[in-house]
This record gives sequence, C-alpha cells and structure tokens, in this order.
Amino acid sequence: ATMAELQEVQITEEKPLLPGQTPEVAKEAELAARILLDQGQTHSVETPYGSVTFTVYGTPKPKRPAILTYHDVGLNYKSCFKPLFQFADMQEIIQNFVRVHVDAPGMEEGAPVFPLGYQYPSLDQLADMIPCILQYLNFSTIIGVGVGAGAYVLSRYALTHPDTVEGLVLINIDPNAKGWMDWAAHKEELSGNSELIQKYRNIITHAPNLENIELYWNSYNNRRDLNFERGSDITLKCPVMLVVGDQAPHEDAVVECNSKLDPTQTSFLKMADSGGQPQLTQPGKLTEAFKYFLQGMGYMASSCMTRLSRSRTASLTSAASLDGNRSRSRT
Ligand code: BEZ
Repeated sequence: ATMAELQEVQITEEKPLLPGQTPEVAKEAELAARILLDQGQTHSVETPYGSVTFTVYGTPKPKRPAILTYHDVGLNYKSCFKPLFQFADMQEIIQNFVRVHVDAPGMEEGAPVFPLGYQYPSLDQLADMIPCILQYLNFSTIIGVGVGAGAYVLSRYALTHPDTVEGLVLINIDPNAKGWMDWAAHKEELSGNSELIQKYRNIITHAPNLENIELYWNSYNNRRDLNFERGSDITLKCPVMLVVGDQAPHEDAVVECNSKLDPTQTSFLKMADSGGQPQLTQPGKLTEAFKYFLQGMGYMASSCMTRLSRSRTASLTSAASLDGNRSRSRT
C-alpha cells in the first residue's frame, strides 16, 4: 500500500467522540451504523448468456481491486457470505474495499423460476459473465472469494483473464469434473444436526426457486476439469488461499488442487471444527486468514494489523493449521 493509502485509513479512524463516549463504544456504534446503513446496491446486467444480478457494498477505492464473491449451489450471496462479511473483525478489513457479490442467475432474492426447457449457463459461461459486471462497474481488477461452484467459476475466470485477478480465496474447490467425491460431498455437506445446518437445510428445501437451484447444481455436475498443472500455462498466476474444513467432504479435492498450484503463490488452510461450509461456521478464523492474505498482497494498513494480530495470532494458529497437523482434538 502506498503512503497515501495508509494515511487515508488512519484519517478515517480519527472521529470526534460524543461526550462520555469511550473510543471502544464509539467504534462499536460506528460499526453497527455502517452495517445498518449499508444495504448494498443491487444491479443487473445483460450478458450473452442472460442477465446476472449483483449487489455492491462500500464505495470504490482508487487503485484498489474490488472484492468479488461467488456463492455455492443452494445459496445466494447473502446466505453464503453475510455471516462472514458482517463479522465484527471483518469490518476493518472490508471498509478498504468495494465488495461485489454476484448471484448466479435465478438465485437472486425473488428470482422467478426459469421456464421449462430454459438452458442454464454452464459454469464456464457463468465465468464469462464476469467481464460484463466489471465493465459495468468500471473495475479493472478483483480479489475473488468463491465457495464450491463459485470457487470453480472464479478459477475459470482467472484462467481466462489472469491479468485482472489479484488474488483468490477458494473455499471447497473441486477442479475436477464430477466424480465420486461429489456424491459424498452432496450427502455429507448438510448432514449433522447442528442448528446452523438445520437452518440452511430448511432454507434450501423451502426455497421458492428450488428448480433454479437444481439447474445451477446440474451445471456444477457437468463442469469440465480445470486441468491445473503446476508449472504449465494452465495454472493460477495470482496469490491463492485454499480453504477447506478438516475432514470435510471436499478435503481430498482441495488437497489435490493444492498440489497442482504454484507453491510460492498458494497457501492452504485446513480448518478444524468447520464442517462443509467454513465461511458460515468459522467466520472469525476465516477473517483472520483473509487479513493475512491481504497483508501478503500489501493491502492492509499497519494500524489495523497490529491491533488485530496482537490479540488473534495465538487463536488462529491453534485453530487452523497448514496441511499435516492432524493431532488436534475436535468436537
Ligand atoms: C458486505 O458488506 O460486503 C456484505 C454485507 C451484507 C451481506 C453480504 C456482504
């Protein structure tokens, strides 16, 4: 980050306090206000493969990439990313970026069910819609955050538009065409009895656009191999953070993906106690990891880093680890 950018961040932190207010309370109030007031702006653009809807939060920051998210099958941007992006510690990070949350076609709130026989875009075509979004918003580069099918879409986009992707956070990526692992993942991902899982299972089974969800699911199952090969032209060129739940259904696929990417550009985060959707179950640990990822790219102001990292480094290292540490206890 340039000095000007660092200064910009520090200046915004110097807010006058109301009488009797401590800095902590003022900060919390500001945070709550920001979350309440920023409802996001939803837009749609036409693309060669149909229209696509996305919601933009925050104001564009000069010379900074947009954070662009792509959700998994069965979810939309809100159900997939709200717990992570509204997590308290996340605010300090994302306030420095504009966020563009894409809804796969037919997944946006209130989306009508597609007519029978509608040809849903392939995952490659979903990736080809992204340039239309960026052009509309006039953004030249992104940091992508994707889960499952969304991670695949962003990877495909990064392969075809490497110059526009500064970094990728890929949760539960499976770069290969559908195999037995998909069946296992589908069966296990929303199994279990935690309240959260119940809630999400309920959302999906009662979704008014269940037919649309099935179309996205079919496109995911019909994906082709990404064919990553370390050292070849077909690999991700940007910094990548791979994330998967320890013992989660996608673990093997993500491990294999890690072996196909450039080790100097890739970090691999296996999270304990996170199940099939770490961004929902472990927003705190993921926020922490995301912060280090951005820091590695030179994007975090030092004032924010020191405060957060002092208090959190220990908890992160005990909760999430690099590949290989299998001795932790879990519940
Ligand atoms: C955001 O600030 O980026 C955000 C807010 C609500 C839901 C999802 C994302």
